[in-house]
Amino acid sequence: MLLAGQKVVVVGGSSGIGLATAELAKKEGAEVVIASRNKDRLTPAAEKIGATAMVADVTSDDSVAALFKSVGVVDHVVVTAAQLRSGPFKTVPMEDVRATMEGKFWGAWRVARSAEIRKGGSLTLVSGFLSIRPRPASAIVGAANGAIESLARSLALELAPVRVNAVSPGVIDTPIRAAMPEATRQEMLAKTAASLPVGRVGVGEDIARQILAFMTIGFATGSVVYLDGGALVS
Ligand SMILES: NC(=O)c1ccc[n+]([C@@H]2O[C@H](COP(=O)([O-])OP(=O)(O)OC[C@H]3O[C@@H](n4cnc5c(N)ncnc54)[C@H](OP(=O)(O)O)[C@@H]3O)[C@@H](O)[C@H]2O)c1
Repeated sequence: MLLAGQKVVVVGGSSGIGLATAELAKKEGAEVVIASRNKDRLTPAAEKIGATAMVADVTSDDSVAALFKSVGVVDHVVVTAAQLRSGPFKTVPMEDVRATMEGKFWGAWRVARSAEIRKGGSLTLVSGFLSIRPRPASAIVGAANGAIESLARSLALELAPVRVNAVSPGVIDTPIRAAMPEATRQEMLAKTAASLPVGRVGVGEDIARQILAFMTIGFATGSVVYLDGGALVS
């Protein structure tokens, strides 16, 4: 088992990519802590995979500091937490775009500042395809993702010998689109799948396996991996 005896914290671990990462880390023998805001979702997720649940909100300095004070020194930290609000550039409320940066970018920043990671351990941030394949009405998400990738490269220098990397997912079928009408969501996923060389959209485990690679390849730092089923070349 690749992570036997190691401690992994997944911030955003109650759902989607974070939950898949926590589950894979657990299977690889790690002691796993998952953190997110909603206790009612977090607790059953933790029980299902045999992880420890800790409530934390990445938009709060104090909450993130308390989480890492409580977990102590760890081997690997993963940040998948995000709640994104976007809209047409000229009309999207400033409150929405600020909230997107607060969770996705400043959330990752806060975790990186508070986490105590052992030498040679890793921090993995999650960005997203909009940083390099922008779409209308999503400028703030693209900007947040670009900032995350830049932050990962800067921190690879500044936090060394802790290793810092980012994975940029393409379209992954997770609860992140739960608010969409189901028929619209299915149609969007089917259309995306048909447009990709791999013929399918991603699942959480696809990204989790890349994050596991970042944890376990001691030569990986300052890397940004675009994992998108071939979207970039199609
Ligand atoms: N799915 C995709 O197609 C896709 C594509 C590109 C990039 N990404 C990126 O991948 C990451 C994970 O996405 P996902 O699809 O796995 O999303 P998801 O299924 O919605 O999971 C998001 C997780 O973040 C937690 N969270 C949200 N806001 C938080 C906060 N303020 N503090 C602490 N936890 C918070 C949520 O739990 P609570 O609500 O309980 O806090 C949940 O556990 C995100 O950064 C997303 O932007 C996803």
